[in-house]
Amino acid sequence: MAEKTSRLSGFYKLTPEERLRIVKDFADLTDEDISQLTTGLHIEQADRMIENVIGMVSFPLGIATNFMINGKDYLIPMALEEPSVVAAASNIAKIARVKGGFHTSSDEPVMIGQIQIVDVKYTEMVLQKISYRKDEILEKANEQDPMLVKLGGGAKDLEVRVLETDCETMVIVHLLVDCRDAMGANAVNTMAEAVTPIINECCAGNGRVLLRIISNLATHRLSRAHAVFDRDMLGGEGVVDDIVKAYAFADADPYRCATYNKGIMNGIDSVVIATGNDFRAVESGAHAYAAMSGYKPLIKWTKDENGDLNGEIELPLAMGIVGGATSSNPVAKTALKITGVTTARELAEIAAAVGLAQNLAALLALATEGIQRGHMSLHARNIAIMAGAEGEMIDRVAAIMVEEGVVRQARAEEILAEIRSG
Ligand code: MEV
Repeated sequence: MAEKTSRLSGFYKLTPEERLRIVKDFADLTDEDISQLTTGLHIEQADRMIENVIGMVSFPLGIATNFMINGKDYLIPMALEEPSVVAAASNIAKIARVKGGFHTSSDEPVMIGQIQIVDVKYTEMVLQKISYRKDEILEKANEQDPMLVKLGGGAKDLEVRVLETDCETMVIVHLLVDCRDAMGANAVNTMAEAVTPIINECCAGNGRVLLRIISNLATHRLSRAHAVFDRDMLGGEGVVDDIVKAYAFADADPYRCATYNKGIMNGIDSVVIATGNDFRAVESGAHAYAAMSGYKPLIKWTKDENGDLNGEIELPLAMGIVGGATSSNPVAKTALKITGVTTARELAEIAAAVGLAQNLAALLALATEGIQRGHMSLHARNIAIMAGAEGEMIDRVAAIMVEEGVVRQARAEEILAEIRSG
């Protein structure tokens, strides 16, 4: 059987139904998967997920095409409201294929559970006792989740830090938990709470445990992606040089860096949301990681000896493929199936590749024609709809506004009236 390809030209020109048929074949979706995609979450399911439910907010779910990652083709589901993002990622993924696509790697899915010890009189003594009882602490943690241990995960190690704060000197214990294919917050928090009595015994009159909670700065769970982009496909060596300068701007200036990293998260969050993962956790982890030694870009761009552009991303990505909304939200389940991933690490790696593509798309636009032209046509269609255009009228009104360079509802209403009055 021929290898499945995600290189789909003209995908954007199809209707949603036609696209769905292609995705169905690519990902071997069942009719039930498809109906879950279109009906989405039921109110009864939503009512079990959070409190005081009265309805649902939905996002468009798009498919980024053309991604080749570690030699394998992926169609990548992205959920977001911002126009141009899905098209931009697909376009850069197409360019990446010329030089072999994206190459990714990741750490074991290890999360940190933090245990704060306060009122410590003799820090050395606490450190020694914890180190002495380390095996017992890990064993107690692992008793909380035998299934995770059976799958090869569980509490693996401890790190102990002495932390100077405005109040006092504290001892912070990091419980390192391999969460396998889960994001892991529940397992980690449960384990951190379960080991408290042992740690309190280690303190015995010399400190006490206060907070026990996961850290979203998942520095043991980093994902990486890199790719080479052909200089001619980008518009020549001058464009490559300008993209490197755009990176240098972000590297030197936190005001620019915030927006640069936001563009990366446009891509990553969309995959995180589509697959039912915790986007607040991923966002806080990404920005905290970016800020570890001054607020810095999550992606670095350089020019290589051939004049081609090289990009590398590295960030913590705590994403799961089991548990939480990845399992309870039917749309997320189908989105995960579309990715075809078999591990949480693979999912995090494809999200990193999407982040890389998204950043380059933004920099390429910004360093050449600016981003507004690309945004304009979809925006114009939305404005035309808001002005009351329907059917083929939407594109006619939008095209006139783009041509005139004036995309406003009042103008859309005028154009609509002019067309209607013949
Ligand atoms: C817009 O959502 C994202 C950009 O602002 C990113 C960037 O400036 O690099 C275009």
